[in-house]
Amino acid sequence: MRRIKIFDTTLRDGEQTPGVSLTVEEKVEIAKQLARLNVDIIEAGFPISSPGEFEAVSRIAREVEGPTIAALARAVKKDIDRAGEALKDAEKKRIHTFIATSQIHMKYKLRKSPEEVRKLAVEAVEYATKYTDDIEFSAEDATRSDWDFLVEIYEAVIDAGATTINIPDTVGYTTPEEFYELIRYLKKNITNLNGVTISVHCHDDLGLAVANSLSAIRAGANQVEVTVNGIGERAGNAALEEVVVALDTRKDFYKVETGINLSEIARTSRLVAHLTGIEVPPNKAVVGANAFAHESGIHQDGVLKERTTYEIIDPKKLGFSGSKIVLGKHSGRHAFRKKLEELGYKLNEEEFERAFAKFKEVADRKKGITDLDIEAIIQEELGKG
Ligand code: KIV
Ligand code: ZN
Repeated sequence: MRRIKIFDTTLRDGEQTPGVSLTVEEKVEIAKQLARLNVDIIEAGFPISSPGEFEAVSRIAREVEGPTIAALARAVKKDIDRAGEALKDAEKKRIHTFIATSQIHMKYKLRKSPEEVRKLAVEAVEYATKYTDDIEFSAEDATRSDWDFLVEIYEAVIDAGATTINIPDTVGYTTPEEFYELIRYLKKNITNLNGVTISVHCHDDLGLAVANSLSAIRAGANQVEVTVNGIGERAGNAALEEVVVALDTRKDFYKVETGINLSEIARTSRLVAHLTGIEVPPNKAVVGANAFAHESGIHQDGVLKERTTYEIIDPKKLGFSGSKIVLGKHSGRHAFRKKLEELGYKLNEEEFERAFAKFKEVADRKKGITDLDIEAIIQEELGKG
């Protein structure tokens, strides 16, 4: 099976989530958890951006074993020097340098011509080789760039020493079909791709980051850039857990594998939510509180007979305690009986029917039915008998 590298950017792009700022200690703690999760690359930060950021990248480089440690740098020497210094003690290090390639960015932000941008990209990659031979180049806003200019600039940076070319959907603009075609186009037209990793980096402005990443993998990308819980600039980045679990659940279709230790997913998600203060929405795929909760009678009946009737992922495999049966107004007798058993009640049929009718009445009025509610119902109904 083709192996997909997981490049985690929770500590760099994820930390760009509005309102999030992690201390050095917190970044090191998350990096150690990412190593237990067994990601291939940890993008530890953007060292030029602040002294604290430099220190965090340096400490991660020194203290975290296993994954390659990457640091971000604009295509300028002072950024690359700062990244190179911060990564000095890493066992395996990567410099990730980038420059924008879309007309809109080149004209308004950089105020440079495509030729000037290509030259800066090549110089940056050549310069970065003084620190490491693992160099990633990103064409920022690639999905709004001219495809032939992308071919030209990626070929030039590969000649200069880039070993990974990243295709970012910086503003979450592309769609799965278009991104598939772009990756195919680049694969077909870049003439010196031999041995070079094709990476994708998707943002979620249209809610398509995970779908776009999967589509790119299908088209031949072999690295995906993701964040835990999908945190990141604006609407966030492709969520690590969603991409990885989709690839695992649909191995039959994608025919690829990752090195991720799936049983660490729950713990990693909780740690990142706790330290960033960004709570996971209850309906979030894979790691939301309701991702494995069943409320309707039909679903509960199915799951209690055989879990896979309504669950395509085994929550225990991801480190969660298991599926949840939530009692509510849509619940049926089967789930209610199971709950009574769990609470240690043995009711005869007549008592059971009365208690069930009372439960439905309460559930119509109340949103979350707790064990205490059930106990109160039973006491009341048994008292009557
Ligand atoms: O979204 C983006 O373009 C980035 C690059 C720095 C890769 O985060
Ligand atoms: Zn990004």
